[in-house]
Amino acid sequence: MKILSNISLKPYNTFGIDVKARKFVEVTSVEELRETLKNIYASELFILGGGSNMLLTKDVEKTVVHINLKGREIVKETEDEAIVKAMAGENWHEFVCYCINNDFGGLENLSLIPGNVGTAPIQNIGAYGVEIKDSFKSCTAMDLQTLELVTFSREDCKFGYRDSIFKNEAKGRYIITSVNFRLKKKDHQLNTSYGSIDQYLEEKGIKDPTIGDISEAVINIRESKLPNPKELGNSGSFFKNPVVSKEKLEELKEKFSEIPFYVVDEDLVKIPAGWLIEQAGLKGHREGDAGVHKKQALVLVNYGNATGKEILALSEKIQKKVGEMFGVEIQPEVNIF
Ligand code: EPU
Repeated sequence: MKILSNISLKPYNTFGIDVKARKFVEVTSVEELRETLKNIYASELFILGGGSNMLLTKDVEKTVVHINLKGREIVKETEDEAIVKAMAGENWHEFVCYCINNDFGGLENLSLIPGNVGTAPIQNIGAYGVEIKDSFKSCTAMDLQTLELVTFSREDCKFGYRDSIFKNEAKGRYIITSVNFRLKKKDHQLNTSYGSIDQYLEEKGIKDPTIGDISEAVINIRESKLPNPKELGNSGSFFKNPVVSKEKLEELKEKFSEIPFYVVDEDLVKIPAGWLIEQAGLKGHREGDAGVHKKQALVLVNYGNATGKEILALSEKIQKKVGEMFGVEIQPEVNIF
């Protein structure tokens, strides 16, 4: 175990924020993780996965433990399905590609999402009508109190929209070390209706799409709207789409008849925060190196040398303006430190 001192976290967060970690340890096996944790109080710990869902606003005084556990294996296979295990440090998109190459279906709509396998269940990553919970079987996590591995079933995880037990009652208690997925080997359930996937397939003349075709469509749609963190620092959607009552929607429709929404249940609807921010006149808005993306207002970007504090200040300005204009509160999706 090698402890590094005062290193820049810029390469470790997709926003590209240049703050320092006072102490930094990388772990590549479960045993190494356990040994490392024996020497650090839980309250002194800062867990770092793919760094794709965080905004760092200051130097990290706690010890950063970078979870770099690698490996994937087919745990069980029948004629119809495969249970595939991936270690927490596997890159999410590379894992999705591995599944597609093996014709294991279920994750294709989640192509190109930044981040790692181990952090994906925490916020139940989702895109184009699919969430990780749909193919999630279980995960293994290290309990910081006992340093034992425990298993969480799909039910245990209490998944919701960008939400799970790991953001609520289990927050700060566990480190996910691996995830098991239940994937289809045949009769793939293709989800093409959301977000112009159908349109892409039609334009390409694809009538009987494979999971690879869906993945390609998703990659193209994402690349056309969402900035590549390697080129422009960002953390994907900065805000969650707010959930409001149907009464509130009716009230908003009187003034904004074009307002888009998705039905959540009998009483609630979700309104795209990107639309609210665009209507508030902030799409493409820039303050120094902190900005609102030109093509998708839900994404905040770092044009180069923005500090975390500058991005945070911009996000607060957006919240305020959207609140004043619509009477709707939008909350960050990213974790702010
Ligand atoms: N819209 C605007 N202006 C914008 C952005 C969006 O008017 O600047 C409108 C669009 O025209 C559309 C609606 O808002 O009517 C929804 O837009 P989009 O399909 O781009 O999806 P989203 O609701 O903005 C969510 C996820 C994304 C995911 C897409 C596709 C959240 C917080 N975000 O965005 O997830 O890729 O759907 O499924 O739920 C992420 O979490 O990092 C992420 C990128």
